[in-house]
Amino acid sequence: MRIDISGKRVLVTASSRGIGKGVARAFLKEGCKVVVSSRSRENLEKVVYELKGSVFPSVWGVQMDLADSVSIKAGVEQIVDLMGGIDVIVFNFGNPPNEPSYFDETTMEDWEYSIRMYLEGPIQILKGLIPFMRRQRYGRIFFLSSWTVKSPQPHFTLADVSRSPVIQLSKILSKEEGKNGVTVNTVLMGSFPTPGAEKSLKRIAERKNESYDELWKREVLSPIAVGRIGDPERDLGSLLVFLSSEYGGYVTGSSILIDGGSSPYVL
Ligand SMILES: NC(=O)c1ccc[n+]([C@@H]2O[C@H](COP(=O)([O-])OP(=O)(O)OC[C@H]3O[C@@H](n4cnc5c(N)ncnc54)[C@H](OP(=O)(O)O)[C@@H]3O)[C@@H](O)[C@H]2O)c1
Repeated sequence: MRIDISGKRVLVTASSRGIGKGVARAFLKEGCKVVVSSRSRENLEKVVYELKGSVFPSVWGVQMDLADSVSIKAGVEQIVDLMGGIDVIVFNFGNPPNEPSYFDETTMEDWEYSIRMYLEGPIQILKGLIPFMRRQRYGRIFFLSSWTVKSPQPHFTLADVSRSPVIQLSKILSKEEGKNGVTVNTVLMGSFPTPGAEKSLKRIAERKNESYDELWKREVLSPIAVGRIGDPERDLGSLLVFLSSEYGGYVTGSSILIDGGSSPYVL
């Protein structure tokens, strides 16, 4: 099987570092045109410089805060100006600022931010970009989520509650857009080494008064059946590349688990 998705126009949200950046690299390696986006212009300049430096000329940075509708409107316009449309959207996300936090520690502002970022932001982007996919009768939409939506964690209350409706959205869109050649899937991620994951685990370790290394070994590494943590570019990026190809057209409306076998669930 030869996969050829070269020339596809890809948007990866929340991609100035971590998971989003790894996924962007995977698509760039396949010869795609890629827009990376996040809140910080400075971070985007850095990542675009780094990616162009690794000989990927077709990469652009577009500032877009998923929790801010004004910034999304401008970002979508810029994406259309730069690439003339879109073929693949990978919705990656940030972490709510007050996370990890238990329900009692959250404020209404935390909830508003979290729901805007995980749900309303993607809806606004889809409203602007799905028409391009429909017209060309090809499109791939991925929502990057977490295995924890199957087993919500009290200290991830903001993220786990706010990203759950995205699975319903993904399913509904897959039903509506399948006949237009557009597939829509949610990807439930396990553990990937990123600045965000490290920060989060450090905070949990502090709260439990435990060492970071012990917590990492017990909570992160030991449940992973394959005995290693995931690589955003190789493990996750390759999956998304495959699903974006002609061979991925029959996979839609799915919640795909990619966690090295750490989840205890069979479904
Ligand atoms: N790492 C894991 O093991 C893991 C597992 C399951 C799920 N997840 C989820 O995957 C997502 C990414 O995690 P990560 O570990 O890669 O985090 P990370 O290292 O903190 O990276 C987060 C990225 O999101 C951007 N960002 C933050 N807030 C944003 C906003 N409002 N609008 C647009 N971009 C924003 C950040 O860039 P700027 O600061 O430049 O905006 C950065 O590029 C998170 O939602 C996390 O909960 C992670």
